[in-house]
Amino acid sequence: MRGGGAARETRRAGALDIQVLAVLHQECFPDDPWSAEALAQLLAMPGAFALITVRENSPVGFVMLMQVREAAEILTLAVTPSARGEGVGRGLVQDALDVCAASGVEICSLEVAVDNQPALALYTAIGFKRRGGRRAYYRRKDGSTADALILSKSIPGFLG
Ligand SMILES: CC(C)(COP(=O)(O)OP(=O)(O)OC[C@H]1O[C@@H](n2cnc3c(N)ncnc32)[C@H](O)[C@@H]1OP(=O)(O)O)[C@@H](O)C(=O)NCCC(=O)NCCS
Repeated sequence: MRGGGAARETRRAGALDIQVLAVLHQECFPDDPWSAEALAQLLAMPGAFALITVRENSPVGFVMLMQVREAAEILTLAVTPSARGEGVGRGLVQDALDVCAASGVEICSLEVAVDNQPALALYTAIGFKRRGGRRAYYRRKDGSTADALILSKSIPGFLG
């Protein structure tokens, strides 16, 4: 995988990484953290996979996807606050798209809160396009809601 830097490595995450993924998710989504049990159940589903980036022995981010035949969905993407702005998120998504391309995925989609500027900027920079939305999809701890945007990106297959 691209790795994205001399001291950074991105690899497949497995069952032994679940606790680490839960900590990263808690750091990145304090309003709606996914438990280790929930992450383990997701990762055990057919078609699910996750990549984790480790820098100097410290986990700094992960991405989790679900593939169903020719379609994949990014379920979550998290980069620990102290490692942001260094290309970790971009590297994770690009590596995940490489995995998707190698396994015949033709389209990758995701949902993102309409006010999540860093994530929207990242996905747009990688080539995701807006396809639709869901009203009041996210519920925040303060009781407010946020709309979701649905983004997707076509993945060129062997026919181009
Ligand atoms: C969104 C998130 C994953 C970005 O991770 P990151 O490692 O900081 O992102 P990168 O450094 O790889 O940035 C890649 C591109 O994204 C955009 N970007 C990232 N952070 C940004 C910010 N704070 N403001 C504006 N653009 C930003 C830029 O286009 C950037 O490219 P550039 O560095 O060439 O300008 C990270 O902020 C995060 O974990 N947020 C909390 C969880 C979350 O919102 N996940 C996404 C849910 S869909």
